[in-house]
Amino acid sequence: MTTDVTASYDPLLRKIHWATAVLFIAAMLIGFYCGLQEPGTSPRRELLEVHKSLGVTLFLLAILRLMVRFATTAPPEPGSLSPLVRVAARLNHWALYAILFAMPVTGYMFSSAGGYSLRYFWTFSWPRLFAGNKAVEEAGELAHGALAYLVYAAVTLHIAATLWHVLVKKDETLSRMWPRGSRGL
Ligand code: HEM
Ligand code: HEM
Repeated sequence: MTTDVTASYDPLLRKIHWATAVLFIAAMLIGFYCGLQEPGTSPRRELLEVHKSLGVTLFLLAILRLMVRFATTAPPEPGSLSPLVRVAARLNHWALYAILFAMPVTGYMFSSAGGYSLRYFWTFSWPRLFAGNKAVEEAGELAHGALAYLVYAAVTLHIAATLWHVLVKKDETLSRMWPRGSRGL
């Protein structure tokens, strides 16, 4: 019997994971802050441009990441986990993947249909494909705001679970995703 078992995720996937983690948390915190400010005020306007640029970057990274994920082998789940924890971890990971696509898409719907600025990091502007479409604007706004709660919950759970693995279980979970090191056992 051949064993095709690796101890950690593909190196490129690990790099994308940590780039995503930094950019995502920045986008999330900026979005949260902007949500508390009055529309049309400064610095909300300027920060939203950064938020949208981060969101588009995350979307492009998510496409690359999913391609790498399906083209490579993920390490098997640690044997020490109970079936319930395994299912919870899987659900959490796929919810995060779904969020990485759903947030940029709904944000883009909202912004593009509403005719708002979509300048990419102070350079060119993305096309506003749904300009003037009120239904798309409202659906995007509603979904983006509602999904934000899922974002806060899924990311908090994800980070809390990592801390639990590192500090309580003291298992190999973090090293499977750590950016340095080989894939060997
Ligand atoms: C992974 C990417 C993204 C994440 C995690 C994210 C997250 C968030 C969060 C948490 C909020 C605050 C929601 C609230 O308090 O109601 C927000 C607001 C907002 N987001 Fe995003 N977002 C992302 C991508 C985008 C993109 C790509 C765009 C537009 C192209 C966008 C446009 C907006 C706008 C305009 C708001 C302000 C909503 C308001 O206050 O009315 N977002 N986002
Ligand atoms: C400080 C923040 C973060 C930490 C400490 C962290 C830690 C980890 C660790 C240790 C794993 C490996 C879990 C395992 O092998 O079972 C993992 C996987 C994963 N993380 Fe994170 N993460 C963070 C932020 C994020 C963010 C912001 C996202 C996306 C929004 C994310 C999405 C994922 C996904 C989708 C997986 C599953 C990988 C796969 O199966 O392809 N992580 N994370």
